[in-house]
Amino acid sequence: MSRQETSVPSPVTLSTLRKMKGEGRKFACLTAYDASFAQLIDESGAEVVLVGDSLGNVIQGHASTVPVTVDDVVYHTRTVARGRRRALLMADMPFMSFATVPSALENAARLMREGLAQMVKLEGGAAQVEIVHRLAEQGVPVCAHLGLRPQSVHRLGGFKVQGRGDAAARVMLDEAHRLEEAGAEILLLECVPSRLAREITESVAVPVIGIGAGPDCDGQILVLYDVLGITPGRRPRFSRDFLEEAGTVRGALEAYVRAVKTGEFPAPEHGFE
Ligand code: KIV
Repeated sequence: MSRQETSVPSPVTLSTLRKMKGEGRKFACLTAYDASFAQLIDESGAEVVLVGDSLGNVIQGHASTVPVTVDDVVYHTRTVARGRRRALLMADMPFMSFATVPSALENAARLMREGLAQMVKLEGGAAQVEIVHRLAEQGVPVCAHLGLRPQSVHRLGGFKVQGRGDAAARVMLDEAHRLEEAGAEILLLECVPSRLAREITESVAVPVIGIGAGPDCDGQILVLYDVLGITPGRRPRFSRDFLEEAGTVRGALEAYVRAVKTGEFPAPEHGFE
């Protein structure tokens, strides 16, 4: 066996995640913002590491993700890229960085070329179908983030569960299908009723990642600082402090990954009706 074979674990790709969905195996995702945590997350066995624009809240101390810039995400993604080896590296497209097709193409290219992201995530519904299509056409793997979209917090009037009621649920289901058809490789559902998240997960072929979306999504994601119990302010109801239980940072990350893979997390109390 060569040196490389012994030291480099097989990287997680989109095919890995699609295969896991097909086999009914859950995958674990976490946010990271620097090389040291990225390495620990990678070693914990998580399949995806996201450089989320939640960095605006947990790193920069803003009240929302709106002030985060492409330069900020490029910088943090580049540092995370140095720490991770196996997990798929996804980076968030910040507020207004994908408002037009040319800006979306240019900023996605920056996240991938300068930040070394392997995939981008954008908050989008029906209005972003064309943008997802144009990115996919250019070979950019896209994760479409539905449900609660924190970049729209001022329009939504707060951080509220989305897709409640038959009409809103139908709209989100339709958006999920349209984004998949447009070429989204992954969907992410944030703060969506568990029943609707299950229906979307079962009706699309691409992997679906949930956060506050119940136990039936293909993968789960949490903000790293919630998992470590160091989020400024109140911890969201859908998260769990794994550090309190495990006692060490490494132990907490491993416990989170294990809990996702065994289906122990999220429990029904972490979801919404
Ligand atoms: O920015 C972020 O960390 C996210 C996750 C909450 C999914 O989008």
